[in-house]
Amino acid sequence: MQTLRDIDSVSRLSQLWRARNLRLALVPTMGFLHEGHLSLIRLARQHADRVMVSIFVNPTQFGPNEDLASYPRDFARDEQLCRQEGVDAVFYPEPAGMYAADHSTWVDEESLSGGLCGASRPGHFRGVCTVVLKLFNISGCQLAVFGRKDAQQALVIQRMVRDLNVPVRLLLAPLLREADGLALSSRNKYLSLAERQNALSIYQGLQEAEAEYKSGCRDAARLCEIPRRRISQAGGRIDYIELVSQDSLQALDPVKAPALLALAAYFGKTRLIDNIFLD
Ligand code: PAF
Repeated sequence: MQTLRDIDSVSRLSQLWRARNLRLALVPTMGFLHEGHLSLIRLARQHADRVMVSIFVNPTQFGPNEDLASYPRDFARDEQLCRQEGVDAVFYPEPAGMYAADHSTWVDEESLSGGLCGASRPGHFRGVCTVVLKLFNISGCQLAVFGRKDAQQALVIQRMVRDLNVPVRLLLAPLLREADGLALSSRNKYLSLAERQNALSIYQGLQEAEAEYKSGCRDAARLCEIPRRRISQAGGRIDYIELVSQDSLQALDPVKAPALLALAAYFGKTRLIDNIFLD
């Protein structure tokens, strides 16, 4: 496995692979890899001849009061995990190598990015789209893998790829959970034991809402109220809970499949996101 720190080396390697007709899948990450990331790598492996993982805590997708400085990092461990997974190359750039001091070009998706996480994290998806397009261009990948835990992110990137004719095929992998239901996330590391226990209310609430939906309830407010109450009772602070269309992310009331019940909530200072698909 090669670890590459500069853009030129990545381009050279990718051109070499392309010349040999080897299909490259990119798995873009911000590091601190967990089983969810590893599942993306395994999916990439199934569809491509070469797998590249990028590890870059992208500063432009963090707001001024967010956790850029404290975002968990452990490159040595990430590199080891990638090696174990048979990754061919890891791209681990320096922020200065990714963004010129006078960087002034952005990719802004203007429809799907506005609600849910985009409403509470202004500029977040602009940073995501910009870095993802840069990573696609640098790596020259034919495929890229994203997780459905960031359901809005996956949709925004799909839209960007369609709108800008980006020649990359996207593969989406299902959200993975711990045995007790907590969605896997690098940010789970921030949780104290008590906060982690309380955060189980997120999935419990989502499951209860799903059961209510399956038993015939189509009232969005009532369905959202179920996780809202559970999470609040467990001491969580809701950022948003919304029932939206899986395609347009527009609010649905009454709820009509395919729908997405998505939420973000704080436990202590940690903001967690989760979702379920109602099909
Ligand atoms: O999902 C993430 O980890 C990030 O948003 C991504 C796609 C790697 C872009 O920085």
